[in-house]
Amino acid sequence: MLVTGCLFTIALVFGTLVTFTTGLTDWQHISSFKQQTDYGRMCYRTVQNPYVYFGTKTTYGAVAGNDLQTPPDCRPLQVWMVSRHGTRYPSKKKIEELKKLNELKTMITAESTMCPEDIVAIKNWNTNLTKDDHYMLQRQGVEELKSLAVRLKRQFPQIFNNPYTENNFKFLTSHKQRAKDSATVFYQTIFNRNPENELPIVQTSDDRFYLYKCKQGEDDDDDTKGQGEVKKFEDGPLVRSVVSRVSMAMGLKQNLSYENVSLMLESCKYEKAWYIQSRPPWCAVFTQYDLEILEYIEDLKYYYANGYGNSIGESMGCPIVKDLIDNFKNLARGKNGPLGLFYFGHSPNVLSVVARLGIGKDNTPLLSTNFEQMKTRKWRTSFIDPFASNVIAVFYKCRDGNKAMIFLNEHSIPMGKDDCRSCPWEPIEAQFNAITSNNQTCNLDMCKNSAILSSINLVVVIFAYVIHELCI
Ligand SMILES: *[C@@H]1O[C@H](CO)[C@@H](O)[C@H](O)[C@H]1NC(C)=O
Ligand SMILES: *[C@@H]1O[C@H](CO)[C@@H](O)[C@H](O)[C@H]1NC(C)=O
Ligand SMILES: *[C@@H]1O[C@H](CO)[C@@H](O)[C@H](O)[C@H]1NC(C)=O
Ligand SMILES: *[C@@H]1O[C@H](CO)[C@@H](O)[C@H](O)[C@H]1NC(C)=O
Repeated sequence: MLVTGCLFTIALVFGTLVTFTTGLTDWQHISSFKQQTDYGRMCYRTVQNPYVYFGTKTTYGAVAGNDLQTPPDCRPLQVWMVSRHGTRYPSKKKIEELKKLNELKTMITAESTMCPEDIVAIKNWNTNLTKDDHYMLQRQGVEELKSLAVRLKRQFPQIFNNPYTENNFKFLTSHKQRAKDSATVFYQTIFNRNPENELPIVQTSDDRFYLYKCKQGEDDDDDTKGQGEVKKFEDGPLVRSVVSRVSMAMGLKQNLSYENVSLMLESCKYEKAWYIQSRPPWCAVFTQYDLEILEYIEDLKYYYANGYGNSIGESMGCPIVKDLIDNFKNLARGKNGPLGLFYFGHSPNVLSVVARLGIGKDNTPLLSTNFEQMKTRKWRTSFIDPFASNVIAVFYKCRDGNKAMIFLNEHSIPMGKDDCRSCPWEPIEAQFNAITSNNQTCNLDMCKNSAILSSINLVVVIFAYVIHELCI
């Protein structure tokens, strides 16, 4: 028994080692440096429309729509919204890492293929972030929530010209400061005053909005370790070609590490989001094609973490979509409900709603190997989940019955069989009620179970380790 245990453990450990080392060797092979023409590189300082689709760090204004409206002969009764916090600062760790760019900027050689203006800009680049900034809502993020509130107020005066009372307007926010601050800015703009009490914070038992039990709390800068398809894509030929082109852009004879190229991208993305009119120096090392390739990494990441690539992706959004459906059902039955419900959280909160509503679903799965084929994919985090991303649903009482509209980042979303945009409520209710009415399944219990499972896994691993020690 003990001997079999030993053999099994050794096989297990060996298997893990083999997987681990094959992962490494891909990076280790160094072949001779070939001069290539750096086609398609333009001067970033002067290029007309620089690329702005930066996944979850895209600035809201670059992708938002303009569709918030009330259909003719209708009156809005309720506005329901789930919003991600606005543009933020990086994590503590990332703020520290970004300082490494000060070293990397000195490595640019005379062989650089960038234009002189871009090189000067990089050489003059610096960071003035401090640890205290980490994960805080940045000024642009404040603007995003303010201007969203202004637009809502203008489009739905019948809702927003009412005074704040706890019965009229329900707020709920994640416990993170950037979400609380986003909620507060939104509140201040709508009601022209500060909240009297702290806005309600989500309870850990609330399956609608507290997704940590599914390991999906927030968009975490430090969780950059790609898994599965993400890792394969990062290690694959396309991303390696980006690394190689960036290295050449800097005039290096060796390839940079992917980690360093990724840091340059972070600097580029964040500064573009903070100062939307700016030309962040580090963006200049990338061609547009490079940025398109790197954008796909985040699409893969969220596709498998929160989207259709994960069996719990759609289920995770059931409790929050049930909240929406139940609220609208109440109104449809002639009951009174709040005028507005506003939830402020993080990427996974918005994505859970998006996936449960069936938005951004492709017929082909996103894979590490089909980037070119998926060029026109619907699952693009830049468009689905920029900073301050939101899903807004509005229930209308109309002359010809009840209607509902759903907006993603202020784009109206086609719903139901007929792809209608201002839809009669009844078929929408029937469609989603079928999913949300089952309170055996419309919860996050599957994640509680998987948490138990993974702790069982951990026990097995520890147990195996102990046996292994005993064998030796
Ligand atoms: C850099 O990476 C590219 C793409 O993987 C490879 O073709 C090239 O040989 C590498 N250059 C050096 C100097 O290792
Ligand atoms: C940091 O730099 C930016 C851009 O140059 C500037 O707008 C901002 O005020 C600076 N922040 C501090 C705290 O100096
Ligand atoms: C890049 O990053 C790695 C790991 O973070 C570091 O060891 C290396 O020295 C850096 N420099 C270059 C040029 O790749
Ligand atoms: C299931 O949902 C129905 C209707 O929403 C409710 O009346 C019932 O109490 C729920 N059952 C459980 C076990 O929560």
